[in-house]
Amino acid sequence: MMKISIIGSGYVGIVTGIGFAELGNEVIFVDIDESKINLINSAKPPIYERGLKELMQKNKERFYATIDYNEAINKSQITFICVGTPPNPDGSINLDYVKSAAEALGKALKNKKDFHTVVIKSTVLPGTTEDVVKPIIEKESGKEAFEEFGLASNPEFLREGNAVYDFFNPDRIVIGVKDEKSKEILEQLYNSFNCPKLITDIKTAEMIKYTSNAFLATKISFANEIGNICKKLGIDAYEVFKGVGLDHRINPSFFRAGIGFGGSCFPKDVKALIAKAEELGEDPKLLKAVIDVNEEQPLRLIELLKKHIPDLNGKTIGILGLAFKPDTDDIRESRAIPIVRILLNEGARVVAYDPKAMENFQNIFPQVDYAPSEKVLESDAVLIVTEWGEFKNLNYKGRIIIDGRRIEKAKEEARIYEGVCW
Ligand code: UDX
Repeated sequence: MMKISIIGSGYVGIVTGIGFAELGNEVIFVDIDESKINLINSAKPPIYERGLKELMQKNKERFYATIDYNEAINKSQITFICVGTPPNPDGSINLDYVKSAAEALGKALKNKKDFHTVVIKSTVLPGTTEDVVKPIIEKESGKEAFEEFGLASNPEFLREGNAVYDFFNPDRIVIGVKDEKSKEILEQLYNSFNCPKLITDIKTAEMIKYTSNAFLATKISFANEIGNICKKLGIDAYEVFKGVGLDHRINPSFFRAGIGFGGSCFPKDVKALIAKAEELGEDPKLLKAVIDVNEEQPLRLIELLKKHIPDLNGKTIGILGLAFKPDTDDIRESRAIPIVRILLNEGARVVAYDPKAMENFQNIFPQVDYAPSEKVLESDAVLIVTEWGEFKNLNYKGRIIIDGRRIEKAKEEARIYEGVCW
């Protein structure tokens, strides 16, 4: 059993913390947001994540949240920094939250007598832990890293919507360390996990995270590019990738061709890696193409729509799905955003439905009508943008459906059906 503090209660912080609590540890969340603290202290999740509420209820004796860094650091042996690293407008990453967390943590560490390990879980570019975080904590605490306090990198690979499952069932655990004490404490913390555990130096661990996300994003853009060629040839890209994925060197996952990737990770991480590469004098041609393909892919849905309705002005266009993927209310970088923007610019009336993301979407698109799926299906044509499970059971008979995510029932039933890559 360990005493752990977690800085930042976004989906990574809260899932990691509650996961550790479920494993028998004591967890203290530190956040600057009072409303999040109150929610956590009443065992309510500050974000929606499947299975999280139940785990919070079950383990409520093992965690609490506070605004007080001193208390959290003094009462724990190890701190995970899990704050957000959002993108700057130029694609580089914004380290403001990481820096202020490091500063507050450093101040709290100043008066602590026992050894304390600090672990960076936030996604940060290679070199950040040692070049940015370390000097801040050293300056504020007056202590020397790797001697008087430990510092490590432990990237997360949690998928939103599946984060609780992923926490308990990781493919691997990556631990980037330099000092022996931190290595021991992290090995002990993850002792009950059976997956491979890779011990590396700190910047290698940071690079593993970026490389994994860049590869997955590449796989999707590759599937989409091949899918676009298949569409022109009258070939179903899903059949093709079934055949391709059976090669064990390739593997079948992440070949779902469609309208591209969104979310808080892939677009941001690939862009940040591009910006870093350019800073180093490299021209990352492949990574740039991954982003280009992804940005053009949603436009293909509109092109296919116009094949059937050339002039969108005054037409009612339905949208099924607004979240960047199913089972989340997150709309960050959702492909629905560029699609809805174009439809509105062309004078269409947009009616949209999403099981969880309508409220978030309404904040940026108040001019869209939000309605139940049956109403959306009455539109002149309907675009499928997110593959929610419940869309598998709708009645598509007699409709014009332009599908960006491959819903088989729509393919079978619609009067006119177009798939983006099939
Ligand atoms: C991703 C990584 O999977 C995770 O390991 C990392 O820690 C954070 O980023 P997440 O963004 O939650 O997780 O979602 P994921 O399920 O990976 O999907 C990302 C996007 O790619 C979604 O928009 C999804 O629709 C799209 N996608 C995924 C495809 O278009 N095709 C696929 O085959 C797979």
